[in-house]
Amino acid sequence: MSVTREDMAGCSVHLTGDETAVEILDQRALPNVTDYLRLETAEEFYEAIRTLAVRGAPAIGICAGYAMYVLALRSGAADSEALLAKLEKDGDYLISSRPTAVNLAWAVRRMLEKARTMRGAAPEAVIAALKEESLAIHAEDIEMCTRISEYGLSLVKPGDGILTHCNAGPLATSKYGTAIGPVLLGKERGIDFKVFSDETRPLLQGARLTSYELQKAGVDVTLICDNMASIVMKNGWVQACFVGCDRIAANGDFANKIGTSGVAILAKHYGIPFYTLGPSSTIDMDCPTGGDIRIELRDPEEIKSLWYEKPMALPEVKCYNPAFDVTDHSLVTAIVTDRGIVYPPFDENLKKIMG
Ligand code: MRU
Repeated sequence: MSVTREDMAGCSVHLTGDETAVEILDQRALPNVTDYLRLETAEEFYEAIRTLAVRGAPAIGICAGYAMYVLALRSGAADSEALLAKLEKDGDYLISSRPTAVNLAWAVRRMLEKARTMRGAAPEAVIAALKEESLAIHAEDIEMCTRISEYGLSLVKPGDGILTHCNAGPLATSKYGTAIGPVLLGKERGIDFKVFSDETRPLLQGARLTSYELQKAGVDVTLICDNMASIVMKNGWVQACFVGCDRIAANGDFANKIGTSGVAILAKHYGIPFYTLGPSSTIDMDCPTGGDIRIELRDPEEIKSLWYEKPMALPEVKCYNPAFDVTDHSLVTAIVTDRGIVYPPFDENLKKIMG
């Protein structure tokens, strides 16, 4: 497929028209307010990623790619060595904003690698190459999401019920999304599904983002609380679970939004196929197992007070707020990637597609 600049401009993360900054759709304000933020400095990029104004592993990767270009453009570096040193420092800083999704570090390292291949060139030439690289990251994500959507669509029948957790649609990625991609691609082709969207405590990505995106796209979507997944499955309303991923380890364990592993356990109990869908940029062959994935811990106030008029727990109550959990590969029916559908044994078959 050929990806156009128009396709990229329509995504939740894109370069501004003058190509000197990044514009993101502020996902914190959805679904009530559609607000765009302009990002130019390392601190602004860091804060946007940390506070989830931009979120979802692929979208964070796209943002990080553009960030490295914009920071290079604005560096004022006199030569390529000074530029590289500045980018290495900014890159480390950006990577430290969120530890779990591999796409952030992957995109930063890819941009640094590009800069290293240009050592000795004029800073303007390095900056121009970085712009092309960041656009390539974005275009490739659109292509990958399209292929993932095609593969995912082949796994379900018209009218099937699909349960999803968190948000792995266009907002979190680029065109189509990953876990939501088959539904949106199907919709384009006149194939309808019934989607059950877990609300996804504590940050409500399922309520605020997935049900928003699907409702706007005219998809039959039903929002449920996380603890309702079991009854919906027991009722026979779910024929497949489609979820995204933030990092897939070499053995097929994968990290995704907190609560995902519970969905996988329920799916196994009810005999429902459970798929994770993600681009090859989310597969981390240097990470042997899920036990090696660092899980981000977040502010207790996300649980106690964020969505309420008054706090819903005593201030002194302890909270444990992991943003992600790891789903064991034994619970996964298949991993749907842009390079094909990967079935167990995952350690062998992931190696094959990752070369
Ligand atoms: O904390 P978030 O909202 O960035 O977490 C996002 C998820 O867990 C998504 O499911 C994952 O990034 C896949 S997005 C295609």
